[in-house]
Amino acid sequence: MKEKEIKTVFYEYNSLTDLPSEEIRLVEKARQAAKTAYTPYSHFNVGASVLLATGEIIEGSNQENAAYPSGLCAERVALFYASSHFPEIPVRTIAITAYGKNGFLKDPVPPCGSCRQVMIEIESRFNSPIKVILSGRNKIWVIVSAKQLLPLVFDHTFLLKR
Ligand code: THU
Repeated sequence: MKEKEIKTVFYEYNSLTDLPSEEIRLVEKARQAAKTAYTPYSHFNVGASVLLATGEIIEGSNQENAAYPSGLCAERVALFYASSHFPEIPVRTIAITAYGKNGFLKDPVPPCGSCRQVMIEIESRFNSPIKVILSGRNKIWVIVSAKQLLPLVFDHTFLLKR
């Protein structure tokens, strides 16, 4: 028996202004997107903005439903829109942010497992890493590839290899 270890690397910034201007803009777009969330049940608004390789920016917000599982997270709203409108274009970066009853959250909010799974399949399809920017009010986490967020992922290549 051998013990194995998996390491996740990410970078923490204390100010948004420490990021390059293109990423600041993307975070601002995610903040705007959070305002369009439909969250009568959770009152937890998530905004996501996706930067494509062409420079196009797609925004998404979480959309809830009285039949709870029918709703969708902000990240997947944005990523599936990107994939359906620009099926040939790789995603470069996704910025994610959230606010609740007391405004934008102080700390970054990491995406749920299903959204991570979807991000990784897009990375894998295009063989191109997606940078993930999680922004709280005063703390920003940058992960250079979505793969870092989901070790031992169920990769679509398993199905292709059957
Ligand atoms: N939510 C997202 O939009 N993204 C995530 O990664 C986690 C959760 C949404 C789903 C639901 O509308 C609300 O946040 C509370 O779970």
